[in-house]
Amino acid sequence: MNIRRSALSVLSVAVLVGAVIYPTVAADKDRASTMAYRQIFMETKGKHAKAIKLLLKNKLSLRHIITHAEALEAMADDMLLLFPAGTIGGKSRAMGDIWDKDGKISTEFTAKAIDMRKEAAALAEVARGGNYKKIKKQMGRFANKGCRSCHTDYRGEDIEAK
Ligand code: HEC
Repeated sequence: MNIRRSALSVLSVAVLVGAVIYPTVAADKDRASTMAYRQIFMETKGKHAKAIKLLLKNKLSLRHIITHAEALEAMADDMLLLFPAGTIGGKSRAMGDIWDKDGKISTEFTAKAIDMRKEAAALAEVARGGNYKKIKKQMGRFANKGCRSCHTDYRGEDIEAK
């Protein structure tokens, strides 16, 4: 075998191995970054909710309450884009039954996101009315039906906390 031919065959083997390995590496990277972003996204929802509670408790800016409620309303739809099939495991608390057998987001999970949107929209609406007592009541409903209910069914144990 001359040098040129062996260099060529080494090159073709490298290309072949690369072609086989690269898609998995790229998919893993996408999966990991989606999950990392999802965590930040979820924490952001938590901060919006926390902000509303503080504003309510101290009867501060109504305008800000509306802003946070509207942000949560928009985030309910966006949230569904952050659960591609297979984004599970590691530090994630996402549970397997978020997806059906074909890897599609289950209708029950989607329904929870729709509940979140509905309750957030109602919160923004009540906030526009300006009655703190009514806002507080709707905030309680939102936390239950818009957040907790989905966590009860689809968010597993916190592995880190133990
Ligand atoms: C449709 C289901 C669903 C709804 C609705 C929902 N969540 Fe979650 N949430 C999840 C799942 C699933 C996880 C776990 C994600 C993971 O660990 O990969 C999570 C995780 C979180 C986390 C933890 C983030 C972290 O540190 O890992 C916070 C905070 C959070 N959600 C806040 C909220 C708040 C606030 C609301 C309501 C405004 C809400 N969620 C509504 C499904 C939902």
